[in-house]
Amino acid sequence: MELSYKRWWEVITLILSVYLSACHAQECNANDRKALLEFKAGFVASDFFFGSWKPGTNCCKWNFVNCTRSGRVQALTIDNQFARHGPSSVGERNTSYKGVVGATLGDLSELRTLELSMIYFNGPMPNTFNKLKKLEQLEIRWNNFSGSLSPSIGGATSLKTLRVDGQSIFWSSPGLRPAPIPSSFCQLRNLETLGLTSFLLTGKFPECFCRFNHLTDLQLSDNKLDGPIPSCIASNLGKLVTLDFSQNRFAGSIPTSLSRLTSLQRLSLNQNKLSGNIPVGIGNLAHLQVLSLANNSLSGAIPPAIGNLAELNFLDLSVNLLTRIPPELGKLVKLGIVSLSNNKLSGRLPPEIGKCGSQQFGIFFDISYNRLSGSIPDVFGSGNFSIFFASNNLFTGGFPLTLAMVGNVDLSRNFLSDLKAVSTLPPAPTIAYLNLGNNLLSGTVPSWLKDLVAGAKDLKTVDISVNKFTGPVPAIFLENLWNFNASYNWLTGNLPNVSTSGIGLLDLSHNRVSGPITSKFIGTLLNTTFQLDLSFNQLSGPLPANSGDFLYLNYLDLSDNKLTGKVPASIEKIPTLSYLDLSHNRFTGRVPSIRPPPF
Ligand SMILES: *[C@@H]1O[C@H](CO)[C@@H](O)[C@H](O)[C@H]1NC(C)=O
Ligand SMILES: *[C@@H]1O[C@H](CO)[C@@H](O)[C@H](O)[C@H]1NC(C)=O
Ligand SMILES: *[C@@H]1O[C@H](CO)[C@@H](O)[C@H](O)[C@H]1NC(C)=O
Ligand SMILES: *[C@@H]1O[C@H](CO)[C@@H](O)[C@H](O)[C@H]1NC(C)=O
Ligand SMILES: *[C@@H]1O[C@H](CO)[C@@H](O)[C@H](O)[C@H]1NC(C)=O
Ligand SMILES: *[C@@H]1O[C@H](CO)[C@@H](O)[C@H](O)[C@H]1NC(C)=O
Ligand SMILES: *[C@@H]1O[C@H](CO)[C@@H](O)[C@H](O)[C@H]1NC(C)=O
Ligand SMILES: *[C@@H]1O[C@H](CO)[C@@H](O)[C@H](O)[C@H]1NC(C)=O
Repeated sequence: MELSYKRWWEVITLILSVYLSACHAQECNANDRKALLEFKAGFVASDFFFGSWKPGTNCCKWNFVNCTRSGRVQALTIDNQFARHGPSSVGERNTSYKGVVGATLGDLSELRTLELSMIYFNGPMPNTFNKLKKLEQLEIRWNNFSGSLSPSIGGATSLKTLRVDGQSIFWSSPGLRPAPIPSSFCQLRNLETLGLTSFLLTGKFPECFCRFNHLTDLQLSDNKLDGPIPSCIASNLGKLVTLDFSQNRFAGSIPTSLSRLTSLQRLSLNQNKLSGNIPVGIGNLAHLQVLSLANNSLSGAIPPAIGNLAELNFLDLSVNLLTRIPPELGKLVKLGIVSLSNNKLSGRLPPEIGKCGSQQFGIFFDISYNRLSGSIPDVFGSGNFSIFFASNNLFTGGFPLTLAMVGNVDLSRNFLSDLKAVSTLPPAPTIAYLNLGNNLLSGTVPSWLKDLVAGAKDLKTVDISVNKFTGPVPAIFLENLWNFNASYNWLTGNLPNVSTSGIGLLDLSHNRVSGPITSKFIGTLLNTTFQLDLSFNQLSGPLPANSGDFLYLNYLDLSDNKLTGKVPASIEKIPTLSYLDLSHNRFTGRVPSIRPPPF
């Protein structure tokens, strides 16, 4: 077979490229390799983790390592995801290693990127970062360090990105000790991103950080920083996009000058000790998407200027002392989450607010624990609300039926008293959860409520407890719901005749229901019910023989009725039962009882 010229050329290029690529695989610098092997010796590492890190081999080919063309280590990026499965996986501290683990990383003098995440140092931070004069990016997360931040980081003056995170809900670092941010950090003037989170940092905000005029991202959340939020932040850090001081002890008022940070997209000052008003100038932050001021002591009205924040999608002002909701909130068409709960909001709920929120995502809206009064405006069903929590207010009037287009509705602990239908029931209601408990509703269960339970196919939980409902329990509640609580009402009549039921929790306690508990009634509950409370009624007659046939029953309370006869022995033997109270009846013979063990 004759090879064509073209064919020969292909073979030659192939050989050439293999040769060239072998040539290009840089040989690692011997000092860098030594420094890395010494770093490795600090850990008892599985083969998977540092397996490729072997003496005498080319360190440029090791896991997590990236070299320059001349074979110097330029990036070391260890993000040990596997440690999420527990310390025994990989990256455990070598307890016989003496000295500061990782100190030799300072010898990697060409390093530009260093990431150390989720390895168990179980000792102090490496103290040689100051030798890394070319380091631009340092990310240190969740390494179970003890002690405090290494001041040596302040000497890595080329840093543009510095993120240090001590702990999280999934990762504890019990050895950390409270300490101020080292003053050496004032030298890091090239920083664009600075995140020092969950590291028990104390003291005031270092004003020298106000000179870091390239900063776009400043996050100091979850520390113990105190004192005021200095206004110098606003004068010099005009490029800030993210400012997160949440979960600290910052006190005083929010500086009005923050309104100059017009590039801000995220402002989180939640969980501090801030007081005073929300500055009106907040309305200037035209790009703001996230505003969280929750859990402070902010007072006064929510400024109407918030209505100018056209990009806002997350607004959390909960747990403050705010007094007024501005109708202008209704202009915020991108809102997805609005929490104004636990304030001192009073007056009426402005109907304009029903227009807020994006149509694209279901909006979460929480105004519970306030002092809002008047009737609930009949507007929320036309927005795309998936949560409407308004419990613990002073609302009066009735239930606007358009709320049946909201996924989860909690109007409990108000003063609703009107059982007349407000507006009409929408054709395909999407409601899944309805809580009308602890109101002043009286009279027989209205037909709109029965129609709602019958027509809303996702409606599984209804709570009408602690009202003054009278008349019989409508069967439809037991037929269509998974969780029905009608306790503490004035319901009368017999238990309903139900054909089928899928109910899991049924609480009809503290009513005036009478007549027998029939075997047919029990029969419909056997396969699904795990909590049944019929206590404090006027039920009479014997317990049916199938009372012991429940498959999943965990909690059974039939106390304080007028039940008679012998208790079927099988009841005690229901394998899933952990609570049984049959006391205060007129049973004969032994009356079993099961109480859960005290904690
Ligand atoms: C642990 O540290 C000791 C002392 O430095 C060293 O001799 C040993 O090789 C290390 N163990 C591992 C698994 O690297
Ligand atoms: C090494 O880093 C350079 C520059 O950041 C990057 O382009 C390259 O893809 C990296 N190589 C490897 C193997 O990670
Ligand atoms: C974390 O470090 C502490 C010492 O600071 C040590 O007692 C603890 O065992 C370490 N945790 C793990 C999971 O290694
Ligand atoms: C509010 O902050 C305090 C600490 O300042 C915390 O203990 C509490 O859990 C927070 N409450 C909420 C509702 O976040
Ligand atoms: C409302 O929000 C949901 C998400 O909860 C979304 O799936 C749905 O498409 C939205 N409805 C409308 C009419 O945009
Ligand atoms: C039913 O409501 C009452 C009063 O609101 C409450 O105490 C009880 O725990 C509720 N029952 C169930 C099963 O959740
Ligand atoms: C249930 O049906 C029985 C017999 O069909 C009837 O006597 C009883 O009154 C009914 N109970 C209710 C609450 O409708
Ligand atoms: C309830 O479960 C039993 C046993 O698992 C089964 O035989 C019976 O058909 C079930 N009844 C209903 C109504 O699903």
